[in-house]
Amino acid sequence: MVKRFNLNYIHKRILSKKMLFKVLNYIDSNPGVRTPLLFIDKDRLIENTQIIGARIQNSQVFYAVKANGDPKVLSILKDLDIGFEIASLGELSLLKKLGVSSKRIITSNPVKSIEFIEALYSYGVRYFVFDSISEIEKLEKFAPGAQCYVRLSVPNEGSEWPLSKKFGVEIEDGLALLKRVKQGGILVPAGVTFHVGSQCLNPYNWCIAIDKAKRLFELCKTEGIYLKFLNIGGGYPISYTKVAPKIKEIEEKIHGYLKEKFHGKVKIFLEPGRAVVGECGIMITKVIGVAKRGYENWAYLDVGVFNGLMEAIGGIKYSYVPEKIGDEEDNLLENEQGFFEKAKKWVLAGPSCDSMDVIEKNVFFEQELRPGQTVLIPSAGAYTTSYASEFNGFPVPLVVII
Ligand SMILES: Cc1ncc(COP(=O)(O)O)c(C=O)c1O
Repeated sequence: MVKRFNLNYIHKRILSKKMLFKVLNYIDSNPGVRTPLLFIDKDRLIENTQIIGARIQNSQVFYAVKANGDPKVLSILKDLDIGFEIASLGELSLLKKLGVSSKRIITSNPVKSIEFIEALYSYGVRYFVFDSISEIEKLEKFAPGAQCYVRLSVPNEGSEWPLSKKFGVEIEDGLALLKRVKQGGILVPAGVTFHVGSQCLNPYNWCIAIDKAKRLFELCKTEGIYLKFLNIGGGYPISYTKVAPKIKEIEEKIHGYLKEKFHGKVKIFLEPGRAVVGECGIMITKVIGVAKRGYENWAYLDVGVFNGLMEAIGGIKYSYVPEKIGDEEDNLLENEQGFFEKAKKWVLAGPSCDSMDVIEKNVFFEQELRPGQTVLIPSAGAYTTSYASEFNGFPVPLVVII
């Protein structure tokens, strides 16, 4: 039977019709296909790599592999004009298997194991981040001659997935560390990096961070340290339930600000993850059961917090598009007005026996949910399968390129 989906006003804003048709075509021609599945749209992936970085002068883009390290995704990216930012031996081994040149790889994980540093260095990678003396000492011993950059701590307000707690130093400490690198004479003090937080909906975060970086560049000059590049990290947002600011617009702002502060003289690195692959992905999942618990309507999907939707417990709010069942009418609302009177509230949970496996408590649907029904989750290409585990025996979604 051909599957039909009711798109409400939220879905229509965030879901590309072209991608939806490709997905429907696939599921209609593969009726017995096992779910959960993650579809990745190849054309959209290629398109994203052309948009990102395009408006920032003198820039180079390194895809943050952690967002989705599926070998099929990496192999598409390998053939494009993009580098890779990696954090672990596992990610390095994925790239090595694909024959990605070391010239296209950097690592921005501020705390690395010695084994990882050695493996990167022997493969030929020469760009390494640090934010502590201990890391500098490791790099001096196992990566002599490397181009090193310090991670600055910057505000993450307005980012739905903050990354400011674990890494980064203030300007004065950054200066002291870069001076220490220079005095050591083994490594090259080459740049500064920061991360404004993932899913950053506040473009001013980049301006504040660029200001901080500029101050550090200036202080370094007074110490005879001439830095060559600024790595502005990741953070570009995508549309989950709300339409996110456009990358073009964010980049125009960043570019303008960089020009004002650095006059186009510094090389810019970018490390986007979510924005490269997030909107290329549609998760296809099924309702495996429903229950009424007191006043609450519960629906259980075959994908949950542990096997794909981990970010749901940290603040990312996905949209859910249920399959139309039977002769339900096509009468979904075209705008927000009246939506909450018409829609019914559900708690969405995953398939495992753990109480943590609750995806979201307030999800509104204008139609019923029933076992066996297919539910699409748009914008699910990033930080889903890469976080997933087979906890409790539930499978990680297969990745299918369409
Ligand atoms: C060092 C580093 N670079 C880049 C990224 C990618 O960020 P995003 O997916 O927000 O673009 C991350 C995400 O955790 C990161 O830690």
